[in-house]
Formats: sequence, C-alpha cells, structure tokens
Amino acid sequence: MNDNFDLLISGGSVYLPNNKIEESDIGIKDSKILAIGNLQNKKYKTKIDAKNLLIMPGAIDSQVHFREPGLTHKEDIFCGTKGAVLGGITTIFEMPNTKPSTTNKEALDEKLKIAHKHAHCNYSFFMGAAKENIEKLGELERIEGCCGVKIFMGSSTGDLLVEDDESLKKILSNINRRVAVHSEDEYRLRERINILESDHVNVSFHPKWRDVETALNSTKRLLKIAGELNKKIHVLHISTRDEIELLKSYKSFATCEATPQHLFFKSPECYETLGTLTQMNPPIRDESHQVGIWKGVTDRVIDVIGSDHAPHTIEEKKQKYPKSPSGMTGVQTLLPIMLNFVNEKKISIHDLVRLVCVNPCKIYNILNKGEIKVHNDADLTIVDLNKEFNITNEWIASKSGWTPYDNFKVKGFPILTIVNGEVAMRENQIVSEPLGKQVKFAI
Ligand code: DOR
Repeated sequence: MNDNFDLLISGGSVYLPNNKIEESDIGIKDSKILAIGNLQNKKYKTKIDAKNLLIMPGAIDSQVHFREPGLTHKEDIFCGTKGAVLGGITTIFEMPNTKPSTTNKEALDEKLKIAHKHAHCNYSFFMGAAKENIEKLGELERIEGCCGVKIFMGSSTGDLLVEDDESLKKILSNINRRVAVHSEDEYRLRERINILESDHVNVSFHPKWRDVETALNSTKRLLKIAGELNKKIHVLHISTRDEIELLKSYKSFATCEATPQHLFFKSPECYETLGTLTQMNPPIRDESHQVGIWKGVTDRVIDVIGSDHAPHTIEEKKQKYPKSPSGMTGVQTLLPIMLNFVNEKKISIHDLVRLVCVNPCKIYNILNKGEIKVHNDADLTIVDLNKEFNITNEWIASKSGWTPYDNFKVKGFPILTIVNGEVAMRENQIVSEPLGKQVKFAI
C-alpha cells in the first residue's frame, strides 16, 4: 500500500469523535482522512505544523442566502463561499429565495452548475416549497445536491410563501426528508401590518409587528401538523424563549437552529446603535429572549447554529424602515463570534463542535463529514483559540461588504480552512481555486 500523504497536518490538538481533544497528526490523501495518530515517520507531499492549534471537523453553516441567480448585486456563490472559508466554514446549505426561486429541477441544476465552478467550500441547495410544486416535492427533494425542502410560513425576502395548514399538510405528506421551516404566522403578520402605518415608525417597531405570538403560533401549528403526520421538521432561527420552552417536548421529531446574532444582539440596544443593520426576520428581541435562547443552547434544545447569512447592499439597508430589507451577513462571522463565546465561557468547545459539525450531519443525514475519523472527507477547521482579531467591514468578502459586528474584537479565530484535503484559506488569505464539492446524503 502506498502510504504517502498528500498533506500531513502535524501535532495539532485534534477534536476526536469521542469528544476528546488529543495531540495527534492527520494524514490526508485523495481528499480523505487516511490516518490519525503518530505519523511522524510517514512520507508526505506537504506538511502543516499545527502545534498549539485546535483542529475541529470542518464547520457547517446550514442556512445561507447567496442570492445567485438573480440578486447578485447583493451576493453570489463565489463571494459567499469565499466568506465561508475565510470564516472557517467548509460546507454551506443555501436557501431557495433567489430569483427565480429554486422550486424545480432546472433552477436547482443551475445553482449546482454555478457552484461546481465557483464554490470555495462544499455546497448543497434547498428546494423551495411553493403552492405550484407541492405535488412534485417528494421527487424534487431527492435530487442529488438538494439538502431538503424549505418552507416559508411567513413572508420574508422573495415571494416564497406557504401560509395555510392545508398546503402545509400536503407538503409534509409528500416529503420524507426533514423539512426546514421559516416559522412566522403570515395571518398574524397581515393582521398587524397597520402597526407600520404609525407616523413614528422606526426599526424598533420590527419586533412589535413580527411579535412573539407571530413566531410561537406558527411553530405550534407546524408541530401539530408534523406530529400528526409523523414527519421530521427543523425550525430555523429561533427568536423567542417561548418556542424554546415549547420545542423541549418535541425533540423526537423537531430540531431547531439558533443564529449567532440572536445570541449576540438584543433589543432595544441593537436598534438604537445599529438601526436597520440588525433588522431581520424573525427579529432580534429583548434580553429575556436572548437569555431564553442561550438556555436552549445549554439545555440542548437548540441543535445547530446557522448564520442565516442574508446580505443586502448597504444602500438597501439604509432605507427608512419598513422599506429597509431584512437580513444581515453572517457566514464569515459565525465561527469567530461563537469562538469568542467559547473564550467568554458562554459555551463549551464541545457544545460548539456538536452544534456546527456533528449535528448538521445527523439532522440532514450528510455522509462522511462532521467528525475527524479515517475515511471521512478531509474538511477541517483549524483554530487558534488565543488569536485576537478585530472584525471589520473591510475583512468581509460578501458582495454587500458589511457586517453588523464591524469593529468588534473577538478572541478565538480560524487560521486554516481545509476543504476536501486542500488548504482553501491560510491566515486570512484565500490560497486555492474554488474546490468545493456537492454534499452527499444518505436518503
Ligand atoms: O431576515 C431575513 N432575511 N430572514 C429570512 O428568513 C430571509 C432573509 C433574506 O433572504 O433576506
């Protein structure tokens, strides 16, 4: 057997599947992990010294909006995935509210074709549920390169919307994979739209319009339908402590996500200091909800951290509320912000690895990723837990060019991003051509 490695990563603190961190070498060949252990007497083409660095399984961001095709003045797959690897992310799942929306095989194939050429990290795309494709979703969710179906129960950016229980029941009856859901009650949003007619309206009205009940009612309806039909759901970007309390009792079929921004920002402060830059759906709410979501993280109600990277240009964001669109960048800052929380002791490194590496694989049945073990894909995020870095707009690779964390200093930072056995990012530089591959699933 030819034991030569393409890449030998030497002496790093390796995060192993038994949740132990051990000093070890990793040998990589043909984009796979070939060996873990003391490999000092083996041959290799390239060697990286990882002494004093933590080697995590490649981090996965299972909620990004990369806007291509159709909205590429905000973002595209090339720049979005560049931001991903600069931030230590090796795999992304992209959302269907592009232009056109991703609601059929042709639209999904178009994204796969672009990603094949331009993606710096591994990728998969959601199929959007619409009233017109309900009957076909069972077939569409099984297309290779698709990570599952996404439902918008409340309207957000784009025109994807399935607001009524009858359609939701039909969708869930037709599909078998776990469905990702934007859970806000469209009927309540419509009922309360007059809140925005006030002369004094400003962005602090956003969580009043899209209130706690809006999120909670929708999640209750969804849980009831999924429970009756025995289907698996994933509730995206939880924004209320109330949903955390509710979801506790439904872990057998319902998983859920928190975003770094719901853990980091709170109202009214975020609206006073950053205005519409922190406007998103569902909204950032007051401290009691932030505390509730944190409790969801520590109590293991939250299953994954996803960024909901949703770029808009600064000109679009600076429009007067409610004209300003909802969403902020996040794929590049997800890991730095969460590693900073590790240093602040708000979350353990074990919980972080579970939330951004292990669980996305379990929830979506991703093959060969999420753990550092022999035969798995060589996707690795190499981190210096002591490195300090000042996040700035200039650092952001997104076409939109801004971050709500501008000038926030973090401690804990990704130093190297290894995608399919190749160094994609080294010390803040992109050092390879796009080398992302389509994610494979067991379905
Ligand atoms: O704030 C948001 N922006 N929430 C979403 O669900 C969609 C996203 C976007 O695509 O802009």
